[in-house]
Amino acid sequence: MSTQLKQSLQFRRMVAADLDAVMAIENVIYTHPWTRGNFADSLAAGSHCWVMESNAVMTGYAVLNIAAGEAHLLNLSIAGSWQRRGLGRTFLFYLYDFIGKNGADVLFLEVRESNLGARALYAQAGFREIGTRRGYYPSYIGREDAIVLEYKS
Ligand SMILES: CC(C)(COP(=O)(O)OP(=O)(O)OC[C@H]1O[C@@H](n2cnc3c(N)ncnc32)[C@H](O)[C@@H]1OP(=O)(O)O)[C@@H](O)C(=O)NCCC(=O)NCCS
Repeated sequence: MSTQLKQSLQFRRMVAADLDAVMAIENVIYTHPWTRGNFADSLAAGSHCWVMESNAVMTGYAVLNIAAGEAHLLNLSIAGSWQRRGLGRTFLFYLYDFIGKNGADVLFLEVRESNLGARALYAQAGFREIGTRRGYYPSYIGREDAIVLEYKS
């Protein structure tokens, strides 16, 4: 990642006014996107919802829960035109730091078996595969398995 890009990045809490920009990204990068209601519910429930910006442009967002010393990453997304520049990895490292400061030393997530790009990112960022949830996701041809991943700090 260029120094210029790295220095331009800022993380802040997501707010309801972000949801138009979030949905504009979400609807493009997923075959089965979250709904606006899913994000609104996460905000209302007190999930940790983060936005990453470069010069005030939204480059990505993440949603996670922390409870009983464990964190669960529910959504990690980088806008299409910003992918493959190290932003996903940078966001994950930010979240590792954040969960550590909030009493969690383990981070779990599920990823579609077919999502090889995301799986490559997570493997590179220190996650290990610990299981499979059969038919966890909807897909165009029925259901798709989730791979369960764990990161321990
Ligand atoms: C998956 C996602 C978060 C990755 O973010 P990103 O900013 O593009 O990833 P990075 O640039 O930080 O990639 C870091 C490393 O992960 C791996 N990687 C990331 N995307 C990859 C892809 N599409 N194919 C292969 N490897 C990939 C590479 O090893 C990469 O390092 P390199 O570019 O030096 O080779 C992003 O592509 C995205 O939002 N995708 C759509 C939504 C999604 O699938 N979210 C995850 C759901 S669990």
